[in-house]
Amino acid sequence: MAQVIKSSLTSVFGITLMAAALGLSACSTSVDPDVKARQDSMKSWGDAMGVMGDMAEAPDTFDAEIFKEQAAFLAEDAATPWSHFENQEAAGNATEAVWSNVDGFRAEAENFQQATAELNAAAQTATSMDDVMPAFGQVGQSCKSCHTDFKVKND
Ligand code: HEC
Repeated sequence: MAQVIKSSLTSVFGITLMAAALGLSACSTSVDPDVKARQDSMKSWGDAMGVMGDMAEAPDTFDAEIFKEQAAFLAEDAATPWSHFENQEAAGNATEAVWSNVDGFRAEAENFQQATAELNAAAQTATSMDDVMPAFGQVGQSCKSCHTDFKVKND
């Protein structure tokens, strides 16, 4: 019993220390918190798209539960980054068009929210990749379309 408590305390402490170390390194690189928040969001979208994209490439690996989880995550997080684009000084890898073409950027953001809502709806009853393929394609198009004008090309 005492052994169990001791080892779980050690692991909790380990996590705390690790978080502190991560916090320190984030401070020393001084990434703007808005840039970090929206990039973190986008990165997690990339992960979700990767999971779903693997199923699209190998449709017999379609897993309805996992697909649903990823689609729900995208739909829920779809509005998160946009409020972090207010400060033009914090450009990150956003192009100037984010601020010079505010309406265009907003339209892309709204289109994305719509597309992820539709994917999430389709995922609820999907039994195969075929059922979600059109909506999944729309979401992918939406990422790409916005990046074309609003994200700096780094390749
Ligand atoms: C409405 C516009 C818009 C949409 C929609 C959009 N993005 Fe982005 N994305 C951006 C912008 C702008 C940046 C650059 C942000 C920065 O560096 O501050 C970016 C950056 C990224 C990055 C790089 C993050 C980093 O760590 O630097 C990834 C990955 C990404 N997006 C993935 C996606 C995926 C996947 C989707 C669709 C599921 C998507 N984005 C949809 C505008 C968009």
